[in-house]
Amino acid sequence: MSATPVVVLVGPMGVGKSTVGHLLAGRLGLGYRDTDDDIVTEQGRTVAEIFVDDGEPAFRAIEKQTVRRALAEHDGVLALGGGAILDPDTRELLAGVRVVYLSMDVEEAVKRTGLNAARPLLAVNPRKQWRELMEARRHLYEEVATAVVATDGRTPEEVTQAVLDAV
Ligand code: S3P
Repeated sequence: MSATPVVVLVGPMGVGKSTVGHLLAGRLGLGYRDTDDDIVTEQGRTVAEIFVDDGEPAFRAIEKQTVRRALAEHDGVLALGGGAILDPDTRELLAGVRVVYLSMDVEEAVKRTGLNAARPLLAVNPRKQWRELMEARRHLYEEVATAVVATDGRTPEEVTQAVLDAV
């Protein structure tokens, strides 16, 4: 089976990819899929457990395969884990796909996620981590995106409408 998602959502953790993704899928009458959920289902472990047990490189290798499969199988709305775009092959696979980057500024990110043990990359000093994450990744999100939707100060419904307007 070969398919292409109608919309792929990328952006940092906590930006609302899954909330907006569900709303968007509902508005479009399409299915919703999330690569983090795929990983948890396939591995029978949480993302945090995979990070702790096997380390980040092992997680990224699993994630890369999961994203590749989801891109080939899913024809609805697909959300990628926040770090999926770190992989150059994944970025290449996104060429020709409608990709919306949900963005937020660092202060909004700190406010939304805070100290969050379930998000292993933010377990210590979240503001500093966020600054570094955004600096390292912003240009990668922009590279793959066909549209950028800022989420700061907007409700999930407003963001969903902005995505619909943008695609
Ligand atoms: C990560 C984002 C998370 C999850 C993992 C790593 C990242 O996904 O894949 O904790 O590197 O930004 P969400 O963006 O869905 O929270």
